[in-house]
Amino acid sequence: MVEARQTKLAIVGAGAVGTAVAYSSLIRGVARTVALLDINKAKVTAEVLDLSHGLEFIPRADIIGDDDVAVCAGADVVVFTAGAKQKPGQSRLELAEATIGLTKKILPGLLEVAPDAIYVMVTNPVDIVTYAALKFSGLPRNQLFGSGTVLDSSRLRFLLSQYTGVAPQNVHAYIAGEHGDSEIPLWESATIGAVPLLEWQALPGYPPLDEEARRSIHHDVVHAAYQIIEGKGATNYAIGLAATRIVEAILKDEHRILPVSTVAQGFAGLDDVCLSLPAVVGRTGCGRRLDVKLSDEERAGLLASAQTLRDMQSRFGL
Ligand code: 2OP
Repeated sequence: MVEARQTKLAIVGAGAVGTAVAYSSLIRGVARTVALLDINKAKVTAEVLDLSHGLEFIPRADIIGDDDVAVCAGADVVVFTAGAKQKPGQSRLELAEATIGLTKKILPGLLEVAPDAIYVMVTNPVDIVTYAALKFSGLPRNQLFGSGTVLDSSRLRFLLSQYTGVAPQNVHAYIAGEHGDSEIPLWESATIGAVPLLEWQALPGYPPLDEEARRSIHHDVVHAAYQIIEGKGATNYAIGLAATRIVEAILKDEHRILPVSTVAQGFAGLDDVCLSLPAVVGRTGCGRRLDVKLSDEERAGLLASAQTLRDMQSRFGL
């Protein structure tokens, strides 16, 4: 196991998401050094200063930042958050062109200074950006993958927790497919405690988790980000925590089951798009995908989600 004091996390982009990743990673003490890279030197310097002023209150860490990629040298993990911001009403897929271009531009320099890092793509549309980055970098699928539906699955667990009165940590349910409008919940394999979710009997005072309730929860997960963007212009805290969860799984070699975005080798021929399915994440990055039991509807939903992504990729010549 790699000790936390030896580790370095580099975060590309010091915007709302990148700084939330930095903040939550520092608080959780996941890496000994956290490095921020941003083209805006004044902004990155100010963010580093602000975070540094809290170092007394967190596990031992150094925080550095620059507009020069050298600040990421020797990183164990690189979290990529740089990109255009989603405007109210704009879908993640509409961001594709700008972010693909940016990824292509920034990756070579990063690969030069941090060739052995595990790369976690967060920038939206994350599945497309991940697929493009795999192509541009030539890295193997374990070494570069996307944050995918880790956040969406957490939203699902939160909503199910509210609905059933059970802690989110005891709700084992995943959102799979695109991190976006075509994503689907995997109800068939979900459990609450040890009880299959589809057999869940409501606790006293809580409503039944019937088909209508499940449909409404799915709807709310899909629309969660839009609601937040309407109100505050961006989502950042929960994605910061979700990305930190992934980084921690890597640096502590936890072998966590996380629905990260990758080419789903061996699943329904889905090796020409990146999408999320639960996989084992540890020090070597994205490991084996689980063979999750799917209903016919879920399988069809995943294939439709893959098609949405494939159509978008072909628009950008990927
Ligand atoms: C989110 O789901 C916008 O992808 C971002 O919060």
